[in-house]
Amino acid sequence: MPATSDDADPQFRTDVLRGLASHPKAIPARWLYDQRGSELFDAITRLRSYYPTATETALLRDIMPELAERVGPGRAVVEFGAGSLTKTPILLEAIRPALYVPVDISGDYLRASAVELEAKLPGLPIHPVEADFATPIDLPAEVPGHAVLGFFPGSTIGNFVPHSATDLLRHFRATLGTGALLLIGMDRVKPIDRLIAAYDEPEGVTAAFNLNLLHRINRELDGTIPVQKFRHQARWNDILSRVEMHLVATGAVEFSVAGQTFRLADGESIHSENSHKYGPRGGRMLLLAGGWTPVAEWTDPARDFAVVLAEAQPERFAP
Ligand code: AVI
Repeated sequence: MPATSDDADPQFRTDVLRGLASHPKAIPARWLYDQRGSELFDAITRLRSYYPTATETALLRDIMPELAERVGPGRAVVEFGAGSLTKTPILLEAIRPALYVPVDISGDYLRASAVELEAKLPGLPIHPVEADFATPIDLPAEVPGHAVLGFFPGSTIGNFVPHSATDLLRHFRATLGTGALLLIGMDRVKPIDRLIAAYDEPEGVTAAFNLNLLHRINRELDGTIPVQKFRHQARWNDILSRVEMHLVATGAVEFSVAGQTFRLADGESIHSENSHKYGPRGGRMLLLAGGWTPVAEWTDPARDFAVVLAEAQPERFAP
């Protein structure tokens, strides 16, 4: 078996080798988030040009009085992803839940953020669950008996192709149960220049975030990728309504990863992320296809970003 560093995730190795051997070359976006990648993503959320974070945060603040009235106190709030220290407290302080359950695959990150949230929200029981939220999960024994509210902010749904996004929403429904509510953030379609500016800004943070994937491959999978021969590119794919991130070869390159040789022609790319953008009807249709009936929707004045409240209604056998 070719050598890779001892602590390399076997799934990372499999995904990278498979992705580099495929045509066109593509690597799942989840591998962008090692320690450095997570720090760079954090820096992205503070950039002026990356409007989704600031817009969603302001929107959440604005809608809380109305949302609190709609959902009522005493719910079990299940967040898909470890809670953010800005957005999550806005929700939890406003709706006064009985307990909070953050679900994340990264146990260390999950526990660290739970400790910080505990300090911010004294008295709220927090029950972190270390699990892959892209599969149905068992909720802690404390949840049954409470009405449930799922929370999936950040437009992370946009990083899944619609086929997988639908599966994900169905898993959320299986996890939360019939009658549950889901509060979800979705980024909106908007003029292309603004979309591209959000994913390829002059500061170069998104470029560093994307190129970090190549550094990670070199470090963890004994790669010899000449990173300086790649450049970051953000492309708008209109037919699929998404911003794509690519790592484009600026000349013919040859390198090895885990003992296997790969070649890219000048201008060929490795596709590293999709970020789907939804119009109002497309977004609602996606939720419906995933088993969630939209019951309320809010947007900022510029209509850049939407927060949708949806319900897992009982299956109907007739209209
Ligand atoms: C995490 N996710 C919602 C971000 C997005 O906008 O798709 C990831 C990101 N990629 C580049 N910039 C931000």
